[in-house]
Amino acid sequence: MWKPKFHIAPPHGLLNDPNGLIYWNKEYHLFYQWNPNGCEHKTKHWAHLKSKDLINWETLPIALSPTDWFDKNGCYSGSAIEKDGEIYLFYTGNVKNNDIRESYQCLATSKDGINFEKKGPVIHDRDIPKEYTRHFRDPKIFIENGIYKMVIGAQRVDLTGTVVVFSSKDLINWSFDKEVINGDFGFMCECPDFITDKDNSALLFSPQGIKANGDLYNNRYQSGYIIRDLEEINQNNFIELDRGFEFYAPQTFIDEFNKNVLIGWMGMPEELKHPSIENENWVHSLTLPRTLEIKNNKILQTPHPNLKKLRKDEITLENITVNEILNLSDFNISGDCYELIIDLKNLNTDFKIDLRIGENEKTTFSYDYKNKKATLDRNISGAGYDGSRSCSLEVLEKIHIFMDNSSVEIFLNDGEEVFTGNIYPNKNSLGIEIMTKMLFTIPMIKFFKI
Ligand code: FRU
Repeated sequence: MWKPKFHIAPPHGLLNDPNGLIYWNKEYHLFYQWNPNGCEHKTKHWAHLKSKDLINWETLPIALSPTDWFDKNGCYSGSAIEKDGEIYLFYTGNVKNNDIRESYQCLATSKDGINFEKKGPVIHDRDIPKEYTRHFRDPKIFIENGIYKMVIGAQRVDLTGTVVVFSSKDLINWSFDKEVINGDFGFMCECPDFITDKDNSALLFSPQGIKANGDLYNNRYQSGYIIRDLEEINQNNFIELDRGFEFYAPQTFIDEFNKNVLIGWMGMPEELKHPSIENENWVHSLTLPRTLEIKNNKILQTPHPNLKKLRKDEITLENITVNEILNLSDFNISGDCYELIIDLKNLNTDFKIDLRIGENEKTTFSYDYKNKKATLDRNISGAGYDGSRSCSLEVLEKIHIFMDNSSVEIFLNDGEEVFTGNIYPNKNSLGIEIMTKMLFTIPMIKFFKI
């Protein structure tokens, strides 16, 4: 009952990070960290799917299994790049002998996009510079001025987190360049990434151990970015990518439109109190693909345009006045799998929308007009984790919601902020209501069943 309809989830077992995202031979290839043997963080494989449009996915055989001496305790996260017409996958081989960790950055290649041949480590455990522990993983490859670069999440020997970069001319021989961050980012940084968008660039990573500070950093671990190139290492202004609950270890790739697109893990390490485990023997899913754009020193994230293909049964309401409360069920707008867009241009009062309303339960997104604060509250959503998350937002002009059985993603103002999270309401909790403090006329509401 909680399996998503249009998000990627495992058939059974545990999913975590998206891996190896690539548009290759006119098809998208997507891999994810998968434990096919249970819902714990163990025996990580690379599950594999492909798609022509990022919407309809075909499941392919498992691409990587932890069966070799250099990855026997897990084929951990990594990325993909094309070379000479082949897919090159780089991943971390996690090895533990008597509880002593070793880390190998490994290569596997494929000519047909289905079968992958492991080539073994390209950066050996013994080649990890002595300044770092074996928490050294998640290679993401990109090309800069004709040189291949690999960013890796690392932990210094003083147990602080950082990101390092290696370079290579041939993807086989790699040499250590330097560290690329310099601030206080907890005890470990996982899943680094680097994007460029016209004249701007951003370094993305998932630090572990940043302390909560007001509305910021309230999840167990964070994912965010610093707008800059790899050189300005004293600029450490870190911005969270998502303001909700379950969002971690995102990865980017370039799509058919030559845009950066991001997919994240809709989950959080070490949090396994999800009702889907007990009742349905699976846990976690990926976020929807989000097109990225760097503007005014910020990454904007908008739902990928191909998602429009999912739309069914459009309902449009224009210039509809809310007199305290508007029950959208009166207009046939309700459900558990849908897309809902609300234009709020010139909003001049407090705004609230309750989703998945049922007996004694609802999930609430609200905007405090005076204090300029947006909040997602899942305290009475149903089963699973509760709590609320907020962020400041100068104006609220548009809300774009994707509801998919046990998850919600809320995009604000064309990608200025996003709130993502899991909710586990009753099957019959389908209502949607809008409330405003003062009379307000909503210019447009659009609803699609999915
Ligand atoms: C992030 C992470 C990565 C690691 C993978 C293992 O969620 O911990 O650092 O490669 O998961 O599944």
